[in-house]
Amino acid sequence: MRKYLRENEKPYIILSAAMTIDGKIASKSGDPELSDEEDWKEVHKLRTQVDAIMIGKNTVLTDDPKLHIKYHQHDGYYRIILDSKLLIPLSSKVITFQPELYPTIICTTENVSPQRIKEFQEKNVKIIQSGKGKRVDIVKLMPKLSKLGIKSILLEGGGTINWSFVKNKLIDEVRLTIAPWIVGGKEAVSLVEGKGFEFMKHSLKFELVSVKHRANYVILKYKRKNDK
Ligand SMILES: NC(=O)c1ccc[n+]([C@@H]2O[C@H](COP(=O)([O-])OP(=O)(O)OC[C@H]3O[C@@H](n4cnc5c(N)ncnc54)[C@H](OP(=O)(O)O)[C@@H]3O)[C@@H](O)[C@H]2O)c1
Repeated sequence: MRKYLRENEKPYIILSAAMTIDGKIASKSGDPELSDEEDWKEVHKLRTQVDAIMIGKNTVLTDDPKLHIKYHQHDGYYRIILDSKLLIPLSSKVITFQPELYPTIICTTENVSPQRIKEFQEKNVKIIQSGKGKRVDIVKLMPKLSKLGIKSILLEGGGTINWSFVKNKLIDEVRLTIAPWIVGGKEAVSLVEGKGFEFMKHSLKFELVSVKHRANYVILKYKRKNDK
């Protein structure tokens, strides 16, 4: 059983996502188009307030996002990708789009080849190796990110990395946009995937901080209840 990290050893983590009424963050074919323009403006505002945005490898592969800011003035931030085997293409937009404003860090394991690391470094990507397991050890990763001066991270999914953060009790805040749709499908990615906890008493607990609605969208903010 892992020990909790002390607050100052980890960045503050805000889980942010848009989901359907039935908790899906993409359709079964991987269509992620849930937000409207107003929602993107709000999410981009939130991006101006953090030191880094983090996503998982599959989100890079399916959506190829830029993880930039369109609507507000800002000084940039880190883009962080979890990719245990360094499989994302070097042509991904998180690498090629405005790297001077949004430097990219790829977090991987100690099992990857020095040659593959070099290919990314030549594109000015910083590589952080964390753990020797199959996947990036995110608990060991947290102090490494703190040392780089990263005090806050907007965790923008998908469901698989969200579960890793939930399982390790690393989430401090949640910001959700609920689109008024139901899409269904076992194959459609949910807000949090993974194995899940056995019992409700093991779940992460949150306090509702605010409820807003705009048109047919609901925006919910939660803060983690202190269960330490
Ligand atoms: N609506 C929204 O707000 C929103 C936001 C983001 C994403 N999405 C959608 O979510 C979908 C992708 O979600 P997903 O669950 O398939 O993938 P994901 O969470 O984006 O990426 C998961 C992958 O990250 C890698 N990884 C490395 N270290 C990990 C760790 N410690 N824990 C977990 N994963 C780790 C793993 O691949 P390796 O083992 O190969 O490294 C894993 O398969 C896409 O369809 C995207 O459109 C929606």
